[in-house]
Amino acid sequence: MFIEIALFCVVIALLFGYWNVNQIYAIWLKCNIPFDKGQFPYGNMKDVGEKMHIFELTNNLYKRMKKQAPVAGFHVLTNAAVVVTDLDVVKRILVSDSNLFMDRGIYRNEEDPLSGNLFNLDGPKYKEMHNKLMPLFSTEKIKLMFQSMEEFADRLSSYFFDFIEGRPTDLNLQDILARYSSDVMGTTFLGSECNSLRDETTELRRISKKYLGKGRERGLKYFFRNTFQETAKRIKMTETPKEVSDFFVRLVKSSIDNRDTTKPKKNNLIELLMSENTNEKSGSLTLHETSAHAYIFYVAGFETLTNTLAFCLYEISKTREIQEILRRQILQVFKHKADQASYDSINEIPYLDQVINETLRKHPPAPVLFRTATSDYQLPNTNMVIPMGTQIMIPVYAIHHDETIYTKPEAYNPDRFNKDNMKDGHACSFMPFSCGPRACIGSKFAMMHLKITLVNLLRKFRFSIGSKTPFPLKFDKKAAVLSADDIWLTVENLK
Ligand code: HEM
Repeated sequence: MFIEIALFCVVIALLFGYWNVNQIYAIWLKCNIPFDKGQFPYGNMKDVGEKMHIFELTNNLYKRMKKQAPVAGFHVLTNAAVVVTDLDVVKRILVSDSNLFMDRGIYRNEEDPLSGNLFNLDGPKYKEMHNKLMPLFSTEKIKLMFQSMEEFADRLSSYFFDFIEGRPTDLNLQDILARYSSDVMGTTFLGSECNSLRDETTELRRISKKYLGKGRERGLKYFFRNTFQETAKRIKMTETPKEVSDFFVRLVKSSIDNRDTTKPKKNNLIELLMSENTNEKSGSLTLHETSAHAYIFYVAGFETLTNTLAFCLYEISKTREIQEILRRQILQVFKHKADQASYDSINEIPYLDQVINETLRKHPPAPVLFRTATSDYQLPNTNMVIPMGTQIMIPVYAIHHDETIYTKPEAYNPDRFNKDNMKDGHACSFMPFSCGPRACIGSKFAMMHLKITLVNLLRKFRFSIGSKTPFPLKFDKKAAVLSADDIWLTVENLK
């Protein structure tokens, strides 16, 4: 009799579980939102990180559902999610109604000191930190960093000179640019003098290579933590392995302890933060807070800049005419070899902005933006409701490749961004750095870095596609930011 009762209970529990799971995946019927039905346990994420990148999932939904509704439903594991398919709704979420969508819904754990960084924070703590950190990214402060960044670009050119020894040589750009960007970001934001361009064995490079950016398991853990935050807390999941957090906290502490307080040298974040911290208005940050923000600046900048530079050099190598137009404009500003670049002079080359913008359009490093609905949200002029807690995805890649917005979107054409063509676009049709109050805090720094590097390289070298570069490029399905597997370019000295 006992066995029958036990079996009966198991069957009831299974039926209840089945009914419950079906209810979860049928939520979009109640909200009148068209959807792709998910399946337990992955929802619609089964192939993400293996057969497809998350941007491909959102791109497919965007293309299929755009004509039907302003949002399309799906599931991240068991969490309801929507892809926004209408630019006006994108603008509402990111800008006009952004107070209802400020959070990214990212799991944080007190035991992981780096998880309390600006990207992950939400609520009043986010606002407080944003107000403290924003002044560090003003044009005035960015200008202070110009000289040291120019020196890094010179080091990159010297590296190319030494490597190619006067003859056209194939180089794996991705790797070299990763080491270069790591040095720039490490020195600027961690206050630690780095030289992984020449020495691949540095600790910062080892940690970055081992832990940052890639991995399906890492991606799934990220979505698991965000979906099941209570469980993640109970089992003490952390975002960064202990080795990583210990390393970054140690690095930042040593930068603070060893900074030279006798000289007014403020060209790195730690020096700037320390001087802001002595200012009563800004209040001081703890070691863990400083480490968490310095860490996120390093991580957010390192891969986005590496990949933007790699894609840009790849595109202008594929279309040599564009490279020559750009070089001509650069050489008009820097007529003599000895002419020094300055913040103002690199901003006098309109075609440089066009080339960078077109690269960021075609290959947006952050191809999807994330938000969480903090209350139920009725979509204007519809009977559709996005329920509270829904994960919102803004499909930047899909928007940048929408042929109703950009004619022949797969073509690389910097003229899309000349003065005349820029006039009448929708505010959210081009958003590599996003829009609204949670847009990229480092965008001015990023543009300066990209310009300094491209000007420095194109004054000295000519680039063409190397024979080992696959055509078309293969995207890395496991990477957090948009990146290609292999970009080999042939580099030669300019006569
Ligand atoms: C080409 C380079 C870069 C691109 C394309 C880029 C793009 C983005 C995007 C799309 C976001 C998300 C905005 C949103 O969710 O609405 C973001 C956020 C962020 N980025 Fe960047 N980024 C770049 C470089 C940098 C650099 C160099 C830094 C640091 C110095 C940086 C620091 C951050 C931080 C801290 C956030 C979070 C901002 C917040 O939540 O308030 N990024 N970035």
